[in-house]
Amino acid sequence: MVGVVPTMGFLHVGHRSLMAAARNECGLVVVTIFVNPLQFGPNEDLDRYPRDLDGDLSACAAEGVDIVFTPSVHELYPMYPPATTVHVEGLTDSLCGFSRPGHFDGVTTVVTKLFAIIGESRAYFGRKDAQQLAVIRRMATDLCLPVTVVGCPLVREADGLAKSSRNAYLDADQRSAAPRIFGAIREGVAMIVGGTRDPHAVVASIAAAIAEIPELRVDYVAVCDAASLGSLERLDGEMLIAVAVFCGPTRLIDNVAVSIVGSEVISDFGSGWVPEG
Ligand code: PAF
Repeated sequence: MVGVVPTMGFLHVGHRSLMAAARNECGLVVVTIFVNPLQFGPNEDLDRYPRDLDGDLSACAAEGVDIVFTPSVHELYPMYPPATTVHVEGLTDSLCGFSRPGHFDGVTTVVTKLFAIIGESRAYFGRKDAQQLAVIRRMATDLCLPVTVVGCPLVREADGLAKSSRNAYLDADQRSAAPRIFGAIREGVAMIVGGTRDPHAVVASIAAAIAEIPELRVDYVAVCDAASLGSLERLDGEMLIAVAVFCGPTRLIDNVAVSIVGSEVISDFGSGWVPEG
């Protein structure tokens, strides 16, 4: 079986965990590195998106990757912009889809191309991009693509900040403020553990905790159904606490999956974070 890890490069430990999962489960591992212009809005960071091909190739070699595919824009988009795109209804309306119009059409279009080029495979994506994962899963099902979409744990820095290539943009003050995003989400989880079942109360508390930090500005805070990403009137079942926050000019996202089963609350914070005490 072929394992594919689609990336935009500037590979970090989170990407490496995807490569390791693919290496563990597949006979041939392909990493794609392509900064996809179609998924960036007009005022976003396409031009300054961090790149380090030499570092990426070393990371791929260290993880035992067989093939690194680094197409040019012209190779993936012989005519730009493409007249044919892929759009997933519904799941792309909320959260990052609302804040970044057209973003997911860019993602699903390029991922469809990569899947068409690579063919039957298992494709590995991080749960940090929880909405992206849900959208790509739905796309693969709707289009009968011969690809099994595999979600892998979100990976955090030891202080809790979710690993992201965009963390490279943060200056020292922003970097020390950024873990407070995860801190605010954890306070939201603690409210649910403490018995709160009103999603609006949890959202308000997380947003207020983030608003206290001068370096941070909330883009959105949501507690939604994990499958449909739709809003909830009462917390129950499988849910996602998802946030997007501007840290200076840099937009960071994070999420924690929470399920309520009877009176038990189970949360998935991801890996790598070392809780204090
Ligand atoms: O998650 C990413 O890095 C990108 O959105 C992806 C899936 C490689 C598509 O360009």
